[in-house]
Amino acid sequence: MSNIQVLNAVTGYQEIMYAKGELEKTGTDFSEYKGKIANIMQTLHPKRIDLVVGHILQETPTTATIRLVSKHGHDLPAFQAGQYINLFLNVQGTYTARPYAIASSPLERQHYDLTIKKAEGGFVSHYLVDQVEVGKEFQSSGPMGSFHHNPLFHGDDLVFLAGGSGSVPARSMLLNILDQNLPQRLHLIYVNSFENDVIYAEELRELARLHDHFTLTEYITRPTAEYQGETGRLSHERLAALLGTNPENKMFYICGPTPFNQSCQQLLVNLGVPARRIRVEANGAPKTPHHQQDWPSEILLAQEVTVTVKGKGQFKTTVGEPLLNSLERNGFFVENACRSGECSLCRVKLISGEVFNPDEAHLRKSDRNFGWIYSCVAFPLSDIEVLI
Ligand code: FES
Repeated sequence: MSNIQVLNAVTGYQEIMYAKGELEKTGTDFSEYKGKIANIMQTLHPKRIDLVVGHILQETPTTATIRLVSKHGHDLPAFQAGQYINLFLNVQGTYTARPYAIASSPLERQHYDLTIKKAEGGFVSHYLVDQVEVGKEFQSSGPMGSFHHNPLFHGDDLVFLAGGSGSVPARSMLLNILDQNLPQRLHLIYVNSFENDVIYAEELRELARLHDHFTLTEYITRPTAEYQGETGRLSHERLAALLGTNPENKMFYICGPTPFNQSCQQLLVNLGVPARRIRVEANGAPKTPHHQQDWPSEILLAQEVTVTVKGKGQFKTTVGEPLLNSLERNGFFVENACRSGECSLCRVKLISGEVFNPDEAHLRKSDRNFGWIYSCVAFPLSDIEVLI
């Protein structure tokens, strides 16, 4: 059977060809639109953005805000306040990527500000804060992520619970709302270990002074003797007092280190806040997967295992290193974005062996059934073979 015979047998094909012929008679040719639509899609949802560092601001001794502008001089793609971009980098010969929340307001399309805090034991954040200079070029993904304020569904009473650099997406959401004089009531409850850890300190205090509907509450958990403000951690009593009556009607955005996120989530649940009113920003692979409930107690994080990449090679790593990190360190590229088990871009197929999927891995049932794992949050418990 010829191709045209096959197409003619497809239901609706002849009707479509007839309609197309009629449109062409009136001068409308769909092929005119092909390139245009692709260009619009590329502008709105680019796979990669070419960026260059335009400015760097040291925020605290361990934190810097890097302003990225378009390498081609045009506006950057729109984003929702609270979203992130995945920054692709080459650090000491290792091609890797890290998702960073955009700190600036989506009203400012000429730049994305990324506020980066040096992570303990991390190497990418240290490279970005200590070594990157103005003029350095990067590529990133388009803006992504579901941790953002939705004006249609989230109501007018918003509470941000931020720990450390968790204030970054909160800042973007606050600026977006305050700069437009929108009516939402805003409360940022911001917890830091030390006084000099507080990012955007003066800016946030000034915003709270200027806007009656924005409240800022700060806590320092390990203060110096001179510190005059509130100290200690968030407790049930404290949070209940801060939130007042009917906390279940507010919308909560939690972002900070994993233990902070878990503790805030539990405090809110105990105060009767329904799960649908709590948004928690994903926070990378767990640092202590062996503390999770289903971790096999006989397996140590430092144990050595072999990873075989089918048809491509083999390397050694340790149980405690997320598979995506070890693949990258050994020169194997896997597409990725959230690095937190949410977006599924880093899927690889597990051919043999066993991996630990922590709570953070939001594996779809079909992935689980067919042996796909999310490499960014997968920990190899034995020698494994994967297909990438
Ligand atoms: S990078 Fe998103 S799930 Fe792994």
